Amino acid sequence: MLDQRLRALLTGMPKAELHIHIEGSLEPELIFALAQRNGVQLDYPSVEALRQAYDFSDLQSFLDIYYAGASVLLKEQDFYDMTAAYLARAHADNVRHAEIFFDPQTHTARGLPFETVINGIWRACQDSPISASLIMCFLRHLSEDEAIATLEESLPFRDKFIGVGLDSSEVGHPPEKFARVFERARQLGLHLVAHAGEEGPPSYIDSALDVLNVERIDHGVRCLESPELVERLAREQMALTVCPLSNIKLRVFDVMGTHNLRRLLDAGLAATVNSDDPAYFGGYINQNFLAAFEALPLDETHARQLARNSFAAAFVEPERKRAWLAEVDAFFANA
Ligand code: HPA
Ligand code: ZN
Repeated sequence: MLDQRLRALLTGMPKAELHIHIEGSLEPELIFALAQRNGVQLDYPSVEALRQAYDFSDLQSFLDIYYAGASVLLKEQDFYDMTAAYLARAHADNVRHAEIFFDPQTHTARGLPFETVINGIWRACQDSPISASLIMCFLRHLSEDEAIATLEESLPFRDKFIGVGLDSSEVGHPPEKFARVFERARQLGLHLVAHAGEEGPPSYIDSALDVLNVERIDHGVRCLESPELVERLAREQMALTVCPLSNIKLRVFDVMGTHNLRRLLDAGLAATVNSDDPAYFGGYINQNFLAAFEALPLDETHARQLARNSFAAAFVEPERKRAWLAEVDAFFANA
């Protein structure tokens, strides 16, 4: 059991969330409400039946149901409501700043205009109780040409997002497949991140760094299989956006007690804790902290380190970063 003090520190500490797919924050209740509002027929008779289906064997088995859930999103207001609900929830967890992934191709493939998606999400960020910015992800099971077309489509909205990422089915879709589109995004001054080393091998982390020139690695937990890679990630203080509950639900690790978060920190890596797809994996960011600290030998010094790492890795002006880091230090000094 976590003691009261550590629990209060984890939940109360200021933090940034750097790995959250907004479509993965869509709770079953909101899926049903939007289905009704939009006249969409769902394959599940009830909220409970849908939640029962959240029993995944790997990343793909999750993605199939995650894309089905997103099919209820039709209007700009739907994207607004989904995003506003996440931001309120993150605010309650003392998240000060969120960098939010969205998957435009999931929606444009269904015939929705790009602007419907981004305008709804962006407007909710403008009305947000916390700082929020957007990272547009390309679906790696689709072709690079489709990613390039999506990047072109996004250009009229260039001021509404800060970076690009790479998500969806990892194995068989290595970073190299997206070399040209990432180079184009880099030229546009966008920040670059990619999922790598979740289910894919450590070599995918190497190529995300060397070929795509990413500034953070999403997940990255399989890096420990390569000592050379760990040495490099530590030297470069490359942030890893680790998602503990996701890793258990998608069976990257059997149980939380075997998760490698403590080993990543012991290796000097800039790990952070995040929620990935909180509506599907059993909890928002504080629940991820509590579950990891409950199962692993992690203490107050690790909590502080993880909070600091989250702000250090954020894509924000140095001055805002310094202010948040000072807030973390003050929080622990006064605790
Ligand atoms: N991995 C890859 N793609 C995703 C994920 C993830 O954890 N969540 C949503 N899309
Ligand atoms: Zn993810």
